[in-house]
Amino acid sequence: MTATPVSIRPHPARSRPRVTALDAMPTEGPLVDRYGRVHRDLRLSVTDECNLRCTYCLPEVGARFLPHSQLLEVDELVRIARVAHSVGITSLRLTGGEPLLRREIVEIVARLADVGFDDLSLTTNGTRLAPIAASLAAAGLQRINISCDSLRPERFASIRRRGSLDTVLAAMDAAEAAGLVPLKVNVVVMAGVNDDEIVDFAAFARRTGRIVRFIEYMPLDAEQAWKRSDVVSGDDIIRTIDEVWPLEAVDAADSSAPAERFVFADGGGSIGVIASVTRPFCGNCDRMRITADGAARNCLFARRESSMRDLLRAGASDADLGIALREEVWRKLPGHGMNDPGFIRPRRSMSMIGG
Ligand code: 5AD
Ligand code: SF4
Repeated sequence: MTATPVSIRPHPARSRPRVTALDAMPTEGPLVDRYGRVHRDLRLSVTDECNLRCTYCLPEVGARFLPHSQLLEVDELVRIARVAHSVGITSLRLTGGEPLLRREIVEIVARLADVGFDDLSLTTNGTRLAPIAASLAAAGLQRINISCDSLRPERFASIRRRGSLDTVLAAMDAAEAAGLVPLKVNVVVMAGVNDDEIVDFAAFARRTGRIVRFIEYMPLDAEQAWKRSDVVSGDDIIRTIDEVWPLEAVDAADSSAPAERFVFADGGGSIGVIASVTRPFCGNCDRMRITADGAARNCLFARRESSMRDLLRAGASDADLGIALREEVWRKLPGHGMNDPGFIRPRRSMSMIGG
């Protein structure tokens, strides 16, 4: 660990948030933005490709993926991760597209485990997990999130358009058998689509001990069909469950976590709610992202980004790459602006950014 101890005092620029001059940016110490938010969490996408076509993410036909020459090579991924660790990232999550489509995924995990992050995790759609869950765990993966938006086979198929519920349920068993626990299950809740399964998913959490995380539907679908009326609010989700099994909010020790956590009052497990739309957690955000083609992004909804890949391929030193990461974080806006009248969604959809 080369990161210095973190100060949580607001940065002096906080009172003048419109200042964007990078010369006020610290070039050492914690990875901080102009609002004093210290960044410790990196989502690193290893491919933009996916074998599913979830309605909230990719179009049914005509999805286009990057040519492989544009993706970060394994050595480049590892180098960027090392640099990120050296400037203060302590937690790394691998994403896609579907990260398990990347042929070298076990090698990538093993090499990233060597870097020394406190936490190394991965988000997957579960379609390719079962056969390699044990290898991933042996390579040093600590935790896994599996997406699953319905417990009814036909509905699962209509939301995800490919793949099958059975495969994903088997993947959950395999992950647990491999020790990738506690297992988190991500459910994107959409009005009139799967919101009648909220209680079923709560029952599933109680039965299996898995942490079901209900995610508000965000405007990151490739087809740009998202409407505010499609969103089921975190509050409604909690109310629906609480009427059946009373819930108690858990005070998060880590307030930067996007999920608000609840336990069942009778002790039967826990759930989470990620209310990005109705209760943005931008004020505590500590995340940044690197896309599969090596673009550093300071927010899911950022409209700008900077290419670490181009810098690296032009011969940049580790120090230069570290400064580039710091600059991208320094430029972060106070919030995603999704609820502002002039909100413009990013050009990239979810699979092109990494969840
Ligand atoms: N809104 C909310 N969550 C989404 N995900 C993908 N697209 C969206 C969206 N439009 C989720 C997936 C997965 C994670 C990577 O992001 O379900 O759990
Ligand atoms: Fe693939 Fe994940 Fe997008 Fe679904 S949400 S299409 S599994 S990248």
